[in-house]
Amino acid sequence: MTPLPDQIADSLGRAAAAGVEPRAAAGLAICGMGGSAVGGLLAAATVGPRAQRQILVVRDYALPPWIGPDWTVLLSSYSGDTEETLACWDAAAHARRVAVTTGGALAERARAAGVPVVGLPSGMQPRDAVGYATVTALEVAALAGAAPDLRSELEAAVELLRIEDCEAEAGALAETLRDRVPVFCGAGLTAPVAYRWKCQFNENANRAAFSSELPELDHNEIEGWGDRSLLEPVFLEDTHAPARIARRFELTAEIIGGARRVLPRGASRSERLFWLVRLGDLLSLHVARLDGTDPAEIPNLLRLKAEL
Ligand code: F6R
Repeated sequence: MTPLPDQIADSLGRAAAAGVEPRAAAGLAICGMGGSAVGGLLAAATVGPRAQRQILVVRDYALPPWIGPDWTVLLSSYSGDTEETLACWDAAAHARRVAVTTGGALAERARAAGVPVVGLPSGMQPRDAVGYATVTALEVAALAGAAPDLRSELEAAVELLRIEDCEAEAGALAETLRDRVPVFCGAGLTAPVAYRWKCQFNENANRAAFSSELPELDHNEIEGWGDRSLLEPVFLEDTHAPARIARRFELTAEIIGGARRVLPRGASRSERLFWLVRLGDLLSLHVARLDGTDPAEIPNLLRLKAEL
């Protein structure tokens, strides 16, 4: 598997090289499923308050009806054969389309239609290509005028990830989650990261896990934490969180009887987000190792796709 910092570095400039021209759009819709959708969620969070247009992730067979010809639609599928994403390919024919994939039917259809294809290296698990998916979405967002160009911020994130190691932190956290069902909670920048941690726990460790986010969880879920026998709350906080959110994490942890609390390293949004993404990826691999599970195996997911 290509290490995360190498994926980020290797992705820079790929969209422009594939022929995606700078053209202001009314918004950017990123269509994909699972490991190919999470890059869109992470990209939108990385941009955060710097967004200049809406950046929307569609994990379904159809686009919202209000997406018009002035939108850019990024079809993201590692294999190029995911049926929901192919349905969105058809549904987006009236908009400017861009594909990001290793091949499959998506690449075939895009090439036949003269649509730019951002090619990805094959041979990875789709979920392992998260750096490629996220940075490609960021680049297309910038080319569509939905976000500023974050290249220098991403280059700094590559350096941070190459210098700073979080293997020991991931291993220690994995030990605390043995025989527990984690609930990963984030807010703002860390909300989609919490979701990524949950998905990696599911797919790499083949274990149940859930995710949720503040401030919403303070309005409902906070009442459901009476029984702590099985569930383990893990709070993904942010060193730059707004004061009210930081206070909510503090108080929520106190009220529910404690939580594991994790903070990112790095200064920029890109550094903090990717640092946490890598920590969660390593955590899921440590948990798989402790359980004796092969992280490459996703039998239920494959069976379902085969039987559909
Ligand atoms: C497998 C994985 C899945 C896939 C999803 C969509 O590693 O993470 O969530 O990403 O089933 O498939 P692709 O990415 O090929 O469109």
